[in-house]
Amino acid sequence: MEEHYGARFFGEREAAVYEDHLADMFDAAVVTPIVETLADLAGQGRALEFGIGTGRIALPLAKRGVRVQGIDASEAMVARLRAKPGGKEIDVTIGDFSTSRVEGQFSLVYLVFNTIFNLITQDEQVACFQNAAGHLDAGGRFVVELTVPELQLLPPGQTINVIGVDARAMSFDVYDVVTQRLTSHHFVMSEERFSSYPVEGRYAWPSELDLMARLAGLRLRDRWGGWQREPFTSLSRSHVSVYEKP
Ligand SMILES: C[S@@+](CC[C@H](N)C(=O)[O-])C[C@H]1O[C@@H](n2cnc3c(N)ncnc32)[C@H](O)[C@@H]1O
Repeated sequence: MEEHYGARFFGEREAAVYEDHLADMFDAAVVTPIVETLADLAGQGRALEFGIGTGRIALPLAKRGVRVQGIDASEAMVARLRAKPGGKEIDVTIGDFSTSRVEGQFSLVYLVFNTIFNLITQDEQVACFQNAAGHLDAGGRFVVELTVPELQLLPPGQTINVIGVDARAMSFDVYDVVTQRLTSHHFVMSEERFSSYPVEGRYAWPSELDLMARLAGLRLRDRWGGWQREPFTSLSRSHVSVYEKP
């Protein structure tokens, strides 16, 4: 497993820098609205995070009183979760969230921070929806947070979209509109070295995800432009989609 996912994208090397490079994503201003919304959707039931990582969301959600479990392919990421206060109390299964089954039923399964795009084929993404649905109680919710593919920024023939450049780091997304493959390149520079952290993925439009949900017996209940439940519009750069098991 570590070979397949962790070593390619979230092995020891990536886990060692994850929280430094993404410090902004751990800010309370980012995390609190996510945790509040997920706690509200979980209600009195249990929550399962696909791609739990180092516990950015799971730990504060558990602290908020929700019983949380997780699945992640990366031992290295999960080791960091377990080393944090409260980390050992969260039950994490090492495995692929498109296929791994954990015991019990949940009122909420959630998959944040574009992580479903880490599945690089449509079949795997369809399987992920089916796996989420299989873990849900009737009335349970599957919540997916994703960026909207930035294809409107690309004229025909151009494949590269610059995400950000400063004196220390550069990030680019490279799109293949035939295969829907999306490679995010992150380059980080310091006095001593120049490091590259590529992440391979497959992008999908919200409508394709809705169809995957239907194949899994789920239906779209809400789509917001963000965690404050902002309206989703043609200008939204990301979406939070809430699917429900009837
Ligand atoms: C961008 S990190 C997000 C971690 C955490 N959810 C957060 O918001 O900080 C993606 C996580 O998903 C895990 N992951 C990626 N693909 C996976 C798969 N197919 N099965 C299980 N875990 C996977 C990675 O190991 C990593 O820990």
